[in-house]
Amino acid sequence: MTAAASRIPFLAGNWKMHKDRASAVQLARAIAEGVRDISGREVAIFPPYPFIEAVAHAVNGTPVEIGAQECRAEDSGAFTGDVSAPMIASVGATLCLVGHSERRQYHAETNEGCNRKILSLLSHGILPIYCVGETLAERDAIRTFDVLETQLVEGLARLSPAEVGRLVVAYEPVWAIGTGRVATPEQAQEAHAFIRTVVARIAGADISGRIRIQYGGSVKAENVDELMACEDVDGALVGGASLLAADFLRIVRFESRGS
Ligand code: PGA
Repeated sequence: MTAAASRIPFLAGNWKMHKDRASAVQLARAIAEGVRDISGREVAIFPPYPFIEAVAHAVNGTPVEIGAQECRAEDSGAFTGDVSAPMIASVGATLCLVGHSERRQYHAETNEGCNRKILSLLSHGILPIYCVGETLAERDAIRTFDVLETQLVEGLARLSPAEVGRLVVAYEPVWAIGTGRVATPEQAQEAHAFIRTVVARIAGADISGRIRIQYGGSVKAENVDELMACEDVDGALVGGASLLAADFLRIVRFESRGS
């Protein structure tokens, strides 16, 4: 089996700050129903904190996994309003986003802070999805690779190769998030291939061949097939289009060249 074939496609829905408890449970149930017979694809949803437990309950026994959108690096303490890795684990989350561009933008999240969160999550058995990506100004200044490299080197510092192997990376160009302006398959493939070479330097060729790299930024039913056809695109992190079950289920059922 080639390295690419060993990477199970991973489709994830980031609900951001949307829904109330009842509509979150309803959406989760509809997604779970739609993927009941799925095979060879991994599916996860990331509801807001207050709905994690109810949503985890609603999808219990189905292939849908649950993640949190954020966490703090410390286990507990005087950090009003924050939530820790053991807390999200205790309500049924098995995944957590780290370094989403909205956290970097609105909460001054740094690569070093992401690194501490990743280490905390791994120590509590939660799989981090580490989000990286350049702004439009950085792309225009031909700094995309520099930015990605720094985010990876600093964000994955102090991790053993085995720990790097447990992560998922999400490439999310900031200019494509929530804008309707999706990266072309060529732009996505180029960035993903570059990320894989940086991971190879950090953790070795074996890990870099196995690590999954999701693309995120205006993924929709209409563009998922061509993005997923790229050699190094192993999944999608979906915002807006994950809020309607039919749209998200079509994304989960993307058509690959082989299917
Ligand atoms: P979008 O968001 O699909 O709405 O662009 C993606 C993300 O922020 O993960």
